[in-house]
Amino acid sequence: MGHRDQSGALLRAASETASSTAPAPVSAQPPLLEMKALSKRFGPVTAVDGFEAAIAPGEFVTVVGPSGCGKSTLFNIVAGLEEPDAGSILRFEGRSCHAHELLGKVSFMPQRDLLLPWRTVIDNAIIPMEIEGQPRKASRALAREMLPEFGLAGFGDQYPHQLSGGMRQRVALMRTFMFKRELMLLDEPFGALDALTRTMMQRWLLEVWRRHKRTILFITHDVDEALFLGDRVIVMSARPGRVKLELKVDLPRPRHADLVTSPEFIGLKRIVLEAIEEEAMKSFLAPGATAPQTDTPE
Ligand SMILES: Nc1ncnc2c1ncn2[C@@H]1O[C@H](COP(=O)(O)OP(=O)(O)OP(=O)(O)O)[C@@H](O)[C@H]1O
Ligand SMILES: [Mg+2]
Repeated sequence: MGHRDQSGALLRAASETASSTAPAPVSAQPPLLEMKALSKRFGPVTAVDGFEAAIAPGEFVTVVGPSGCGKSTLFNIVAGLEEPDAGSILRFEGRSCHAHELLGKVSFMPQRDLLLPWRTVIDNAIIPMEIEGQPRKASRALAREMLPEFGLAGFGDQYPHQLSGGMRQRVALMRTFMFKRELMLLDEPFGALDALTRTMMQRWLLEVWRRHKRTILFITHDVDEALFLGDRVIVMSARPGRVKLELKVDLPRPRHADLVTSPEFIGLKRIVLEAIEEEAMKSFLAPGATAPQTDTPE
């Protein structure tokens, strides 16, 4: 490390976080994804402005923020579907890159489940593998094997209209997991579910995440969900979106349902809610905020 401090670990830890020129500690893994000064304008609308975050391998990071603050825009950039504005810095696996270079390198579950109605569960699940040119037969066999884990045993040959909303979201999730990329972007994957199903899905997702060892970036509007799932919560400001607050969720894993009533959880929740409410109020009072935002493109 080259530090001549006598106070040992504490000082070392402080200098490692404070100085970007210090050599990286051997044990610390470099971030899988880094975003710096990330901005995106759409004509007169600045969706994201100066967003900064670094995501470590294997981390589960949740993102909350008022509607229209640029969360999906951020995901579209990281998924390689949109280029950020000039001056934005994106680094993936330690290398700086354009957004389009990330296309196909991350798995992405967009805000809407986007299942093709004319395809069965299995054939919806294998779409990314098909696009990659992998043999259909092997992909189908793999998808069939994964059905029970995703609570879809026996439903492989059904069509989306024959499934419940929760099942359709699990198919979309299974498709995202089948596309084996280290980084997964999940944009409000449980948005359409009732509270009980949602709680079950959260616990299930943590279990799947533990088994599959991926890095997850997860957008939600639900503060309990953000804290229950995340190693870290990023609260975004009202549009233009930037980081308003980054909060480490130092709660033990595996996490059980009763965690949400613990004083530690409630303490963290208060901090996040305060930050979010301030921003939600800003976005509500902003000019044009009365226009409906439900049809915002993703
Ligand atoms: N392709 C696009 N063209 C023009 N404007 C866009 C486009 N995509 C997003 N926007 C605008 O950028 C802003 C951010 O949109 P975005 O969908 O990223 O918000 P969000 O935080 O995901 O919102 P929500 O929580 O409602 O899903 C909005 O004002 C939206 O209208
Ligand atoms: Mg969105």
